[in-house]
Amino acid sequence: MTITRVFLVGFMGAGKSTVGPLLSSRLGWTFVDLDEEIEHCFGNPIRTIFEVHGESHFRSMEKAALERLKDRKNCVVALGGGAFVAEENRLLVRELGWSVFLDCPLEVLLTRCPPDGTRPLFQDYPRVAALYQSRLPFYQTSDFRIEVSNRTPDEICGLIVNRLSNAS
Ligand code: S3P
Repeated sequence: MTITRVFLVGFMGAGKSTVGPLLSSRLGWTFVDLDEEIEHCFGNPIRTIFEVHGESHFRSMEKAALERLKDRKNCVVALGGGAFVAEENRLLVRELGWSVFLDCPLEVLLTRCPPDGTRPLFQDYPRVAALYQSRLPFYQTSDFRIEVSNRTPDEICGLIVNRLSNAS
């Protein structure tokens, strides 16, 4: 089966939005940032969606944005950190393409995400740690996993491109 979409999976700060554009240009594909798609559709930043309508509304928009990808091919998609938690989303990702877990230790993620409110779920340490632990089992169901903390974005792309050429 030919793979036409690659989904980057992982916690906030794992590098999905950094690796995504690099990978898409190496593949000659388009880059889709699912959070940006949601913001564009709603006309407001993610933090406003959370503040005004709450997380469950955001999750419905996230699912709808994922569904819309059925109409797009040859794209690299950076999923938000929570998008791979709902089973229906994971099934959809599996149906549409190939998933790569950008695996990064919590200590490193903590240094990468400023507590500036742009990520409503990146709060105090105990809550972030609990969220991270609760999501790991889902991330680990991805088709491919890369430890990213000691690798440059270029190296990460190289590993994905190699693996993709074997997987297609
Ligand atoms: C979220 C991660 C964010 C964004 C939203 C919720 C999460 O995306 O979708 O704030 O639940 O982990 P990034 O992983 O790109 O920061």
